[in-house]
Amino acid sequence: MKVAVFSAKKYDQTSFADWADPSLEFSFFDGPLDPQSAKLTQGYAAVCVFVNDDLSAPVLTELKAAGVGMIALRCAGFNNVDVAAAKELDLRVARVPAYSPEAVAEHTVAMILCLNRKLHKAYNRVRDDNFALDGLLGFNLHGKTAGLVGTGRIGAATAKILLGFGMELLCYDIQVNDELVKAGVRYVPLEELWTKSDLISLHCPLNPQTQHMINADSLALMKDGVMLINTSRGGLIDTKAVIKALKSRKIGHLGLDVYEQEADLFFQDLSGQLIEDEVFKRLLTFPNVLITGHQAFFTQEALQQICQVTSDNLLAFKANRLSGNEL
Ligand code: NAI
Repeated sequence: MKVAVFSAKKYDQTSFADWADPSLEFSFFDGPLDPQSAKLTQGYAAVCVFVNDDLSAPVLTELKAAGVGMIALRCAGFNNVDVAAAKELDLRVARVPAYSPEAVAEHTVAMILCLNRKLHKAYNRVRDDNFALDGLLGFNLHGKTAGLVGTGRIGAATAKILLGFGMELLCYDIQVNDELVKAGVRYVPLEELWTKSDLISLHCPLNPQTQHMINADSLALMKDGVMLINTSRGGLIDTKAVIKALKSRKIGHLGLDVYEQEADLFFQDLSGQLIEDEVFKRLLTFPNVLITGHQAFFTQEALQQICQVTSDNLLAFKANRLSGNEL
């Protein structure tokens, strides 16, 4: 079965060669799936896509017309897919529901520690023979309160690590995770989480209920100097409101692995080009902001899992059975 893989980087090609079923015939396209590139899918039974590929109704219609029958997501989040349109067009969509929650949780904690203890600055200072400590003062996580929004797979993995640091944990989710309650976290209304947390980390999906949940109103409720971490989806945050909160010192530290307009930036080397996104450039001017380019998932273990589950999803489609990972 022929599969067109979009947004395919070198590591995707290597991973598919190592771990996907050899009966699947992959063609790799470096660029994203969008209305133009959708026209390239003639003759392919399936497309394989990632977080920033465009799966809006017009693109899905184009895929259907080209003869594509299935969309295999190499990710868990599916906010970029018009699921209703896919159903209407009888296009099957399957995802990788969990490839390594620990990978994302560990990156979240790496961002917390780096921002708090200013490791990004210390690294450069020491290489410059500057061993002064001024400006590197951090705080103990032990005894502080962390607020987690979303306690599914990644939120729960993050909670377990933060409990290990001796933090108090306040959580908000539309579904309570009993295992976490037993481990010592407390579920609270969102307003209480905003008000009482020293550190807030987002782990819920992006949907109409959660879009811009970090906005001027929620920020106003937060502690002065709060640390905010987002490794989930950029759209959870109103970035302009966050910039204002950085300027007013409401936010003391900001760690982002995702950004609302990341599709124009992330997963490519733009070091020789001018970046036109003024909001993103403004974020980079703050010394207390750490941004990584959607790399939280990026571990050996996660890549292997992504390839194997994607391959199983494609084989299920080929054999006209369900893998259980369909949307
Ligand atoms: P999950 O489905 O296991 O957990 C999501 C949790 O959010 C669930 O417990 C759900 O009840 C909760 N939730 C849903 N609506 C909510 C709302 N309105 N308010 C509060 N909680 C709500 O998903 P998982 O695997 O933990 O992933 C979380 C998110 O992390 C994904 O949606 C994805 O966007 C992001 N992600 C980011 C990656 C990265 O590399 N930066 C990699 C993988 C996922």
